[in-house]
Amino acid sequence: MEIVRVPRIMSLITKELQIKGKSIGFVPTMGALHEGHLSLVRRARNENDVVVVSIFVNPIQFAEGEDYEKYPRDLEGDKQKLEKLEVNYLFYPDVQNLYPEGYSTYVTVEKLSDKLCGRFRSGHFRGVATIVCKLFNIVRPTRAYFGQKDYQQTLIIKRMAEDLDFDVDIIICPTVRELDGLAMSSRNLYLNEKERQAATLLYRSLKEAEKILREEMAPDKAKRRMIEILSSDPLVSEIQYAGVYDPLTLEEVNQKNNKYLIALAVKIGDTRLIDNLLIE
Ligand code: PAJ
Repeated sequence: MEIVRVPRIMSLITKELQIKGKSIGFVPTMGALHEGHLSLVRRARNENDVVVVSIFVNPIQFAEGEDYEKYPRDLEGDKQKLEKLEVNYLFYPDVQNLYPEGYSTYVTVEKLSDKLCGRFRSGHFRGVATIVCKLFNIVRPTRAYFGQKDYQQTLIIKRMAEDLDFDVDIIICPTVRELDGLAMSSRNLYLNEKERQAATLLYRSLKEAEKILREEMAPDKAKRRMIEILSSDPLVSEIQYAGVYDPLTLEEVNQKNNKYLIALAVKIGDTRLIDNLLIE
């Protein structure tokens, strides 16, 4: 695996690969890799000639007071995991290279970015859309892989790729979970033992809501039940949102629909966690 730090060099490499007609599978990440990330890498490995993974903790997608500084970083561990999966290139740029002095251009995907997580993380999706746009320009992927765990992010990236005419297939991969259902996340590392136990409530509340939707198609009742479950543990310090939404518009759904997104964002202690299920 070759490690590339300079955007211009990454760009030259992928330009050449493109001329040779090689397909490029790309997995953008912020590192501290776990099985969720690795599932995307495996899929990219199966479907492409060349695999590029990026690791970049993107400062502009963290709002004021969020965890940019203490976000987990483990380059050595990450390298070993990626080597094993036969990744060809690890793109590991530094902040100055991607956002040099005078940097002033940002990508905003309107409407979708204001919903759900956007209401609580000011500027977050503008930061995500901007970095993914830059990475797509540098890496020129044939296919780019994202996890359903960050469902709103996948919608925003698909919208951005379509609106800005990127010639890339956006591929969404299922959420990988721990045995007790907790969605894998780099932020799970912040949880102490008691909080980790309480975090199992997230998946339980999604599953209960799913049951209510399947049996009664009653989104309001499903939402009430979710909030009831999440409120039952004092370690859940804040419920930012929990409910049933339209999977395309992210508007709250109050009536029978043919598809539902059940989604939530809560804080356990100081740690913010999100999860979702799609129901057809
Ligand atoms: P990060 O949180 O590192 O996640 C990188 C990719 O892994 C995302 O597409 C995310 O949805 C996926 N992922 C995370 N946990 C997963 C799980 N349990 N199962 C399946 N996929 C999972 O998301 C970001 O980084 C950043 O916002 C990024 C897109 C890299 C832009 O900075």
